[in-house]
Amino acid sequence: MIYFYHHFLDLCCGSGDLAFLLSERVGSDGKVIGFDFSRKQLSVASLRQHLLSKACYKNIEWIEGDAIELPFSDCSFDAITMGYGLRNVFDRCKAMQEMFRVLKPGQGYPSLISIKALNHLLHQLRYC
Ligand SMILES: C[S@@+](CC[C@H](N)C(=O)[O-])C[C@H]1O[C@@H](n2cnc3c(N)ncnc32)[C@H](O)[C@@H]1O
Repeated sequence: MIYFYHHFLDLCCGSGDLAFLLSERVGSDGKVIGFDFSRKQLSVASLRQHLLSKACYKNIEWIEGDAIELPFSDCSFDAITMGYGLRNVFDRCKAMQEMFRVLKPGQGYPSLISIKALNHLLHQLRYC
């Protein structure tokens, strides 16, 4: 269940599919950040945001950057998603450390669409 007033971060958002879904769930009182290091992907996401022009999509902001160095304060987000992104990140341990840093304690958890990637990551974290 996703509640209102939530502040979500969609890492490696690509052209924004997941961010758009989150946006619909959190509503206009919530906020979704779509984050990716590809300017081209973010341009497509932004274009889609304007073309689809659903009122709730105004709660999405697209930010360019690297998942291993997030430009956000500690404990900023209620939940973080990362759809098919972790497998592409070079330093997965650092990316996970960053995700846990910016996630509010006890509020949510990184939701990784790829369970296979999660298992791989958990295996790797044992050696961080
Ligand atoms: C396979 S796409 C997934 C897009 C989207 N999440 C989806 O499910 O459709 C992977 C995305 O991860 C982004 N990406 C890969 N490494 C990244 C990093 N270190 N920091 C930010 N974005 C990254 C790529 O630019 C690409 O848009």
